[in-house]
Amino acid sequence: MNKLIKILSFVSISLLILTNVQAQEWNVSAEEKAMELGVTFTEEIQDAGNSIYKKSCKMCHGDVTIAASNDRELPLAPNLGATDWQKANTDGEIFTKITSGKGGMPPFSGSLSDDDRWKIVAFIRSNYDAYIPPNTNKAAEAPKVEKFAGTIKDIETIYNDAAQSFTVRIIAIDDNGHPAKAKGVKVDLFVKRYFGNMALFEGERTDENGEIVIEAGNLKADNEGNISIIAQTSDKSIISKKNITISYAQEWENPILGRNIWGTSARTPIWMLVSYLVFTFGTLSVLGWAVFQLLRIHNLRER
Ligand code: HEC
Repeated sequence: MNKLIKILSFVSISLLILTNVQAQEWNVSAEEKAMELGVTFTEEIQDAGNSIYKKSCKMCHGDVTIAASNDRELPLAPNLGATDWQKANTDGEIFTKITSGKGGMPPFSGSLSDDDRWKIVAFIRSNYDAYIPPNTNKAAEAPKVEKFAGTIKDIETIYNDAAQSFTVRIIAIDDNGHPAKAKGVKVDLFVKRYFGNMALFEGERTDENGEIVIEAGNLKADNEGNISIIAQTSDKSIISKKNITISYAQEWENPILGRNIWGTSARTPIWMLVSYLVFTFGTLSVLGWAVFQLLRIHNLRER
């Protein structure tokens, strides 16, 4: 009898575990698996997918970085730039997983349109060099995104005080070790603030001089006119921080010293000062009179 119970419980526990594991499998049909990329694989589409990714996916999946296999640990969701994963999944499979979700992965069928989900797939695929878009038989035919081939060494940020503009320049070398102009590199520029960073631009590509010039307009600085800026390649491989002094810096105004709050008597109107004094004096005299009367009653009783 005892043995039977043991066997039965063993069987039922195993079944429970099995069904649980079963429930955790991705559910993608053969038809869904065979679906082809539903958008054209162009740079604009990939960029559009990237911005949707930033808003809807990045908080769990982090940056899509190219790695041999998933380099994330729980509780972070898997790295969608893992080449072994990219290789093992068809476009339709990735699309279906985004559509239906599983476990910690929410379904996006309701919140993102088909088109938006395909754009994200295009963005994910842009991080996989061996990807061949549909309708292109040979890899050579695939519309390749022009990428800078040399090595990026640093990012230089120069502030032009008169024009109130920034020049962000990539310092790079080519294969022969000569200085090179890095065209088409995606760069971000931020101004450091107390609460996070303010983006001046994100994911912008450098021109044929390997530069991006941007007018910054009136930036708020501290009392000395200093601001901290961060320039980085969008894949965060190179990050450069710098303090810049700007001459037109607006002086920071302490609100407590101003009229905003009556912090000083200097700005208080006379009528308010007089009525304040009359009111305070009046209240205090009434109180004093009351106390005096009470003392008198007290003294009368004592006698
Ligand atoms: C709330 C966190 C969260 C958000 C937001 C999220 N994911 Fe996920 N995602 C996960 C987790 C966790 C998994 C792993 C699920 C599992 O394997 O059980 C996952 C798995 C995936 C997979 C399948 C990976 C595999 O193992 O095959 C894909 C593809 C994916 N997510 C894409 C996206 C995309 C695209 C977005 C944005 C539209 C997104 N996710 C948003 C948490 C999230």
